[in-house]
Amino acid sequence: MFTLLQQKQEEAHKGGGENRIAAQHKRGKLTARERLHFLLDEGSFEEIGMLVTHRSVEFGLDKEKYLGDGVVTGYGKIAGRLVYVFAQDFTVFGGSLAEAHAGKICRIMDLAMQNGAPLIGLNDSGGARIQEGVVSLGGYADIFYRNTMASGVIPQISAIMGPCAGGAVYSPAITDFIMMVENTSYMFVTGPNVVKTVTHEEVTSEDLGGASAHSVKSGVTHFSCANEIECINSIKRLLSYIPSNCEDQAPHYAYTISNEKRLALNTIIPENPNQPYDIREVIDHLIDDDGEGFFEVHKNFAENIVVGFARLAGRSIGIVANQPAYLAGVLDIHSSTKAARFVRFCDCFNVPLLVLEDVPGFLPGTDQEWNGIISNGAKLLYAFCEATVPRVTVITRKAYGGAYDVMNSKHIGADMNYAWPTAEIAVMGARGAAEIIFKGEISKAKDPAAKLKEKEEEYINHFANPYRAAERGYVDEVIKPEDTRQKLINAFAMLENKVVKLPKKKHGNIPL
Ligand code: HXC
Repeated sequence: MFTLLQQKQEEAHKGGGENRIAAQHKRGKLTARERLHFLLDEGSFEEIGMLVTHRSVEFGLDKEKYLGDGVVTGYGKIAGRLVYVFAQDFTVFGGSLAEAHAGKICRIMDLAMQNGAPLIGLNDSGGARIQEGVVSLGGYADIFYRNTMASGVIPQISAIMGPCAGGAVYSPAITDFIMMVENTSYMFVTGPNVVKTVTHEEVTSEDLGGASAHSVKSGVTHFSCANEIECINSIKRLLSYIPSNCEDQAPHYAYTISNEKRLALNTIIPENPNQPYDIREVIDHLIDDDGEGFFEVHKNFAENIVVGFARLAGRSIGIVANQPAYLAGVLDIHSSTKAARFVRFCDCFNVPLLVLEDVPGFLPGTDQEWNGIISNGAKLLYAFCEATVPRVTVITRKAYGGAYDVMNSKHIGADMNYAWPTAEIAVMGARGAAEIIFKGEISKAKDPAAKLKEKEEEYINHFANPYRAAERGYVDEVIKPEDTRQKLINAFAMLENKVVKLPKKKHGNIPL
């Protein structure tokens, strides 16, 4: 009685057949079902639409049908939490997308939205199914529309585990996070052949749109993973820091306070203010020792700013930190857009923000000006101004110029602003300031170098400290580095029920 059902289930599980599964494995890739097996809690997967097939008859498609039509869709659990998933099956028409395939993905997206749970897409596709023509393009647009409607409502995560080319790249691009697998995945709007025809550049798929290109050069991908299992584990870890929807809170975890390693914070900042240090060392000494540490996002892109998730007293926080160890932590176009996108994500999904500030200003130069540091820097400013989640800043060293305002200052809505005694909150560095305001005096001096040194000292005593800002209340408290963790725990607990209402509007107009 159940033989036919069993036959169909077995057929669906075979996808495009054994030979194509073997070919998929030979490429170093798992199948769609294997990926879901590793992603979801054991036994939790409930498939939807296993028996769906396409209805196309052109180019011989009426004779070639596969149950599921090249995508496995459904819902399941990750660490006990509901998620909706789709996994494209490259063994069926190369995972290409057409009407039925797109319809299955849209159904999952609608369910995820209606039920307030994350959407995870495992992409591995040759793009629009060529035999189905414009119907495939319509299917993509149906997905793009849903991605946009879901943005800010439920977290959307895209893993790229094979080809992702042409307009197909725009669905992942709208989602919150992209993860790519090294050497087996690529994303580009036009492939190497078109590039060669149009621009005469010769480039491989990997160089043009592989994980390395997009994690280092373009910043399109947030995570570059050595293999598929690492990618799947990164999805799970990411989910542990974020809530299921915009009205929910991220999960809380048990923690123990150990203050021993906090003392090391007192000696991280070098005596010479121009000497670099790694801000990740500061982060590591502040966050919970939960065995997980700091989960860095966009690790290899715009390294002059560091962003990522961590836990403080068992609760998720998003960290944005200038990185003095790279380009002296200066703000430029890429670091501004990287941080702005991260701030917006955290604000969408109720993740409080911790900002660690050591910034000498914005990067000067024609390259930056002509490529729009003004409008790109404004994105970060706008993102912070609009964020209503709890926001705390710690100024560890430099807070110079416009960058002082931008990096979550009290003036743009930070709730608490701490400074270490090593903080220098000023319009610019002491030497530059002395050169400008004492220009006449220095040029007339018998020994201009000694005069400059003297004036530099004078400026340092006036402004290269946190106390002028503290007098004004721009800094709430000057604290010892070793006390920072406890101060932050207290501040975030105090801000837990923060409510801020933004002015009524359709939506703002962020300088895109
Ligand atoms: C239908 C496709 C397909 C497609 C691959 N296949 N892409 N079928 N439509 N788009 C099929 C192949 O015919 C083959 O079928 C199987 O998938 C595996 O493909 P291979 O070429 O054997 O694999 P491989 O050598 O690994 O190459 C993968 C590939 C290549 C690089 C993706 O197949 C390729 O270039 N495909 C076309 C890509 C493309 O131009 N897509 C349209 C882009 S435009 P068999 O039966 O042999 O197993 C686009 C617009 C979207 O997507 C716009 C949205 C707005």
